Amino acid sequence: MTTSTSKRVCIVGASGKLGRYMIRHCLDRGYEVVGVCRPESVGKLADFEGQICIEPGRTDDREVIARAVRGCDGVLTVLVPFGVRDYSSGTAGAVLDLAEPGARLVFSCGWHITRDGKDVYSLGFRLLLTFFTWLARLLRFADIDDQVRACDRIFASDRDWTVVRGSDLEEGESEGLPVWSEHVGDPILASNRTRRVDFARFMVHALTDEALVRKVPAIVSRQSASALSYSSTETVSLA
Ligand SMILES: NC(=O)c1ccc[n+]([C@@H]2O[C@H](COP(=O)([O-])OP(=O)(O)OC[C@H]3O[C@@H](n4cnc5c(N)ncnc54)[C@H](OP(=O)(O)O)[C@@H]3O)[C@@H](O)[C@H]2O)c1
Repeated sequence: MTTSTSKRVCIVGASGKLGRYMIRHCLDRGYEVVGVCRPESVGKLADFEGQICIEPGRTDDREVIARAVRGCDGVLTVLVPFGVRDYSSGTAGAVLDLAEPGARLVFSCGWHITRDGKDVYSLGFRLLLTFFTWLARLLRFADIDDQVRACDRIFASDRDWTVVRGSDLEEGESEGLPVWSEHVGDPILASNRTRRVDFARFMVHALTDEALVRKVPAIVSRQSASALSYSSTETVSLA
């Protein structure tokens, strides 16, 4: 996807915090925006009235996604594993199956997703993930493993996808485009913090960065201590 102002982008999960930041970044770049969000959340997009098209519906509803992605050059998808009915994998599958041929597909997730098994996690991170996965499933609140299944489906696809793995998120003013690395555990990522507005910036940036096609970048704020103290290597983008 080029940066031409005539581009049309669909944001799946537009009414969340990340989604609304992505809308703003897309509008700033002159993109036409179509947003998909649950019907009960349409009011959260009131600030954008008249500036975007809204397609109300669940993000795993294939009819909704088919309408929303029609004519779109790029699709930004917020992958969330709410409930225990394969919401994430249903959403990812619908986007992969129904987006226009050649569209750039960018998905969000957390650091726990690994593509090649070479990510290195601290014991604390693994224990917390195991506990949260168990508790969320017990309460039928979320199925973290479904986000894993969603990403496995993306990794198996030959479409032009990028899966952006966010660190711990915080609110606040932008600190610029985050830096990224191939694997969690790489020293540059040690600070484990990114402003949510910049996570959104990176997602939108990925639409036009060919170097990120079929990559799984793990991101961290470029102003974080680990990013500032680390000198660039082949696996790190400071662009
Ligand atoms: N939070 C973190 O610390 C963190 C860290 C790393 C990565 N990430 C990743 O960042 C992305 C966004 O996460 P976020 O925490 O910033 O959240 P967010 O942007 O506020 O997005 C939450 C999304 O979940 C939807 N949602 C909420 N309750 C739901 C339900 N019961 N059923 C279906 N959908 C529901 C929301 O839709 P409505 O507007 O309709 O409620 C919204 O689209 C995710 O891909 C996540 O894996 C988050």
